[in-house]
Amino acid sequence: MLAATPTIEEVETTRALQTAARRWRAWRARRQPLDPENPPDLEHLSAEEVVAWGLERFHPGIALACSFQQEESVLLDILFATRSDARAFALDTHVLFPETYATWDAVERRYGITVERFEGPTLEEQAAAHGDALWARDPNACCAIRKVEPLGRALAGLDAWITGVRREQSPTRANARKVEWDAAHGLWKLNPLADWTEKDVWTRIHERDLPYHPLHDQGYASIGCTHCTKPGAGREGRWADDAKTECGLHA
Ligand code: ADX
Repeated sequence: MLAATPTIEEVETTRALQTAARRWRAWRARRQPLDPENPPDLEHLSAEEVVAWGLERFHPGIALACSFQQEESVLLDILFATRSDARAFALDTHVLFPETYATWDAVERRYGITVERFEGPTLEEQAAAHGDALWARDPNACCAIRKVEPLGRALAGLDAWITGVRREQSPTRANARKVEWDAAHGLWKLNPLADWTEKDVWTRIHERDLPYHPLHDQGYASIGCTHCTKPGAGREGRWADDAKTECGLHA
């Protein structure tokens, strides 16, 4: 037997009930405190489910840290499919590649969003205080000024952040969890792609025809600032002439 077509009033009532139920679930989730000593085990969840969990629990106190590399192509797509008013921020070091700024514009256009910008001092101010080309003489100090300090300000108002960190990227990231307590910054950290391979990332980008950073097609697997990034597989091209492997965002 065919079900009777619902009236407009019935459809609206169902929608209102669904909205109320969703709000109630979000309210209940927020009421159950999370324990940094005993983080929830969400390793069985997909990237979409981890993002949905984070948004439900923390929005608007959660944002994606966006470097415009391949992982962010995937995460931006998931994030804005889940919530059109989700938040993303970028650390603008003023020495990002022109292609990075172009990708920034492309994703803002694609999703109709503004990626919040956090930045350190101007290059002139840095040179006046520390001398020219600090990145060549003391890359750790340069990263601290241009990335780590602005990150602290970006995270200051948040309860959680989302990153594109994947375990296979480096030994320093091999223990990353999908949801973990970030003790260094004092908030929750979500790594929804923790168990994804680079191939998984590219399969998704091509399947969904997502905008991506053009330098990936020119041999750059990992892309940071102009002075400290060369072409290379994995993270080989980052600080290629130095023993340094992390800038301090995730260390
Ligand atoms: S980094 O610490 O060496 O720069 P990597 O380039 O591998 O890290 O990126 C890992 C994740 O850190 C990205 O997926 C992104 O979430 C975050 N991230 C890196 N650089 C930036 C940036 N400039 N702005 C915002 N987030 C960033």
